[in-house]
Amino acid sequence: MFVKSFLALAAYTRFALAAPYPHDTTSLVFARATDPSTCPGYTATNVDVTDSGLTADLTLAGAACNAYSEDLQELKLVVEHQTDDRLHVKIYDAGLNMFQVQEEVMPRPANDKVASSGAAVRFDIIAQPFAFKVIRNSNNETIFDTTGTPLIFEKQYIRLRTNLPKDPNLYGLGEHSDSFRFHTKDYRRSFLNAESINIPNNANLYGSHPVYFDHRGDKGTNGVFLLNSSPMNIDVDQDDAGNQYLEYNTIGGVLDLYFLAGPAPADVSKQYADVVGYSAMYPYWTLGFHQCKYGYWDVNMVAEVVANYSTAGIPLEVMWTDIDYMDARQDFTLDPERFPLTKMQELVSTLHSRDQRYVLILDPGVHAFEEVAAYKSGHDLDIFLKAADGTDLLGVQWPGAVAWPDWFHPNAQKWWTDEVLNFFDTDSGVNIDGIWVDMNEASNFCQDTTCKPREKAIADGIPPKPAHDPRPNTGRPIPGFPASFQPNSSKRDLESRQAMGQMKGFADREWFNPAYTVNNHVGNLSDLTIYFNTSNYDGTHQYDTHNLYGHMMAMTTQQSMITRRPELRPFVLTRSTWAGTGRKVTHWFGDNASDWEHYRTSIRQMLSFVSMHQMPLVGSDVCGFNGNTNENLCARWAMLGAFQPFYRNHAELSTIQQEFYQWPSVAEAAKKAIDTRYKLLDYIYTALYYQTTTGAPMINPLFFLYPNDANTFGIQEQWFYGDSLLISPVTTDYSDTVTYYLPNDVFYDYWTHEKIQGSGANVTESNLTTSDIPVHIRGGSILPHRMNSANTTKALRQEDFYVLVAPAADGSAKGRLYLDEGEKIEQPGVSEIEFRFEGGKFSTSGSFGYAGAVGESVMVAKVVVIGQEKAGATGTFDAETGAIEVEGPWKLDGGFDFQL
Ligand code: GLC
Repeated sequence: MFVKSFLALAAYTRFALAAPYPHDTTSLVFARATDPSTCPGYTATNVDVTDSGLTADLTLAGAACNAYSEDLQELKLVVEHQTDDRLHVKIYDAGLNMFQVQEEVMPRPANDKVASSGAAVRFDIIAQPFAFKVIRNSNNETIFDTTGTPLIFEKQYIRLRTNLPKDPNLYGLGEHSDSFRFHTKDYRRSFLNAESINIPNNANLYGSHPVYFDHRGDKGTNGVFLLNSSPMNIDVDQDDAGNQYLEYNTIGGVLDLYFLAGPAPADVSKQYADVVGYSAMYPYWTLGFHQCKYGYWDVNMVAEVVANYSTAGIPLEVMWTDIDYMDARQDFTLDPERFPLTKMQELVSTLHSRDQRYVLILDPGVHAFEEVAAYKSGHDLDIFLKAADGTDLLGVQWPGAVAWPDWFHPNAQKWWTDEVLNFFDTDSGVNIDGIWVDMNEASNFCQDTTCKPREKAIADGIPPKPAHDPRPNTGRPIPGFPASFQPNSSKRDLESRQAMGQMKGFADREWFNPAYTVNNHVGNLSDLTIYFNTSNYDGTHQYDTHNLYGHMMAMTTQQSMITRRPELRPFVLTRSTWAGTGRKVTHWFGDNASDWEHYRTSIRQMLSFVSMHQMPLVGSDVCGFNGNTNENLCARWAMLGAFQPFYRNHAELSTIQQEFYQWPSVAEAAKKAIDTRYKLLDYIYTALYYQTTTGAPMINPLFFLYPNDANTFGIQEQWFYGDSLLISPVTTDYSDTVTYYLPNDVFYDYWTHEKIQGSGANVTESNLTTSDIPVHIRGGSILPHRMNSANTTKALRQEDFYVLVAPAADGSAKGRLYLDEGEKIEQPGVSEIEFRFEGGKFSTSGSFGYAGAVGESVMVAKVVVIGQEKAGATGTFDAETGAIEVEGPWKLDGGFDFQL
């Protein structure tokens, strides 16, 4: 029976993966009424210049062109210098009908205003036809310039084009699988959150982050964020005359632009965090190694994997269980035979007694049958999205026919939290440490509105475990069930909901096929997701809020976790994201394939998410998700993942098992990878902490640290882990060689401590075993390490520190160490220690408020200064390695210093 249900499940998965998703977007034709080049643009009048900006009225400057829908006659322009480095430019419809992202989704930055006179950029307005320029004051560099192409502002289409210098260095605009630095011709980035099986190339993926970084070398870096959640295309191209441009084409919303002046790349990261929010701080244990697989079919198997890791001597910090644990794939249920409650509780308490953690998955679609408790409670509170006839809108997901929570409903948070509290109760439920929210783009196995969810679910054989079905497939109406379950009983008055406020979006729109098309690798706008005409409780529509659905689910879940354990930092991992999702939860890159292309893609995605989208704790499915991995790829990926922030091995149901202990060379690579990662855990935890407080990224693209070195601008297969360690992995199949770039600077080989003068050229390293990865310390760095690695991060914290000093060409170096208790939101005491090395003197300063819990070490056992030519008055000199080792111990409860 077990075998039977497993096979049924496998068959279903194959169906899901092989579903005929149309990838060919070339067939999508732009049907339009008028050629947009004939559009008249707008005229600015009543321009009112103030100390800190201006306001103006914009009026359609001629006959409406109605390029893709109806032109709006009257617009408003508001320009404000909100800080010296941030200019806010907003163009919206005077009637306030166009949708604006709700404050609850994205709290706007405090509306402080500063004098234009002191700002880093200025705003030049051209009244007729209306256009504007944003110019950097320090060097008169025009960073945004809309002249030459009239603004189009229609009910279902907005176009704004900026002229750019030829071949710009543009980055960001996640989530995608494109190159890190964009192509400058014929490049289109579409934004439409979508289930993305096997991560197609050059496609819209699970999230939308409409912010780009524009790097101009010594002329500075700026960022532009468009606070608009509508589906859109952003085109980077050159016109027939060769003029470079970037063009926004949205099918709704307003133009709510934030210009971030930099001028350094990391300044833009920080200024972006000021707008969308700083990342949450995560528990120390989340930086440990995680294992998951879809297809751990019972609790015994989960326990076995944990035990196998111990036997193999590979540290495992966090165990995960996918939808396998659920009863027929239903949220907030346990499969009574395969994952019975008592055994699940034993599993969790055993993990906890070994200082390991446990994370479970939840999906948004709730199985829509009255016997399903979460459905009934949600239905009682009326929190599900509604179809046009007022019944719960249905789609199909893992359990079969599902209803979708309306995260804008005032009762949605309470309902979800109650379910979470009840199911994950510390005593009577499954006492998890984190929640993984998935499928929240939202993914719908129904292709389009012609789908009949209940029939489709049955035809597809889901839920896939007949033994646990058959639930009475009652359909609608539901006999014998209370009135609130009957059709129309909960119908809301749509009109009154629309009248509830403004900026909710026009009610009369072409919901499914607007004339301007946003390219989508899964088909039309509403395909395989919640239909765009569905209205939310607050009167807005999925048309405008589709890209916010996953974000809302993630935010709601994070709040539930805070309610559950108010004192602890919540850990929530989400597949779908939007700008600002990082302030509360984190993300993995979804369903990649076990191949080298996706191994490389993971680097580009990490670079964008961490440094440009303020989502630091990210990573890919290590060894690959779809398809069978192999020993060579998995060993390399074990090493690659150890230098990425979120480190989880995960695979799809039908693949071979790919735990690190499955192959000797992978086990060896993983041991070395985890050993190294753990010794450096406080270094990267410190970098994470500073990203959460300053916005400075914990992972740096090379151009962030070498902004004037044009050779670094396009590098997408190397990165700085923190700001001191340059990682240059092997990136091709069965190769033992990597060619990487070393900027013109002092570096040290991390493994040998050999000093290397980079010359701004490529270096080739060969004969790299699968346990080797080139890592270089940037001269001028001081790295805190633990003396030894450990089996768990708790045990790791008992190890003393050693501090490695790698001086720059001028002999100086600096570094930081942040220490705290690791889990609490309110920290009783923290240390923010700054290490310095200058003129042969090592010193510490900062605050020393963290004393260490019982058994923990806050001792520095030794300081090692590398790259030395001769012995000093202190310590022991090793002439062969050029290292001077100075023995402690020193307790980190106050400063210490010494002269070499
Ligand atoms: C989705 C997730 C994947 C998970 C699977 C089953 O495809 O992206 O990680 O294993 O669903 O829950």
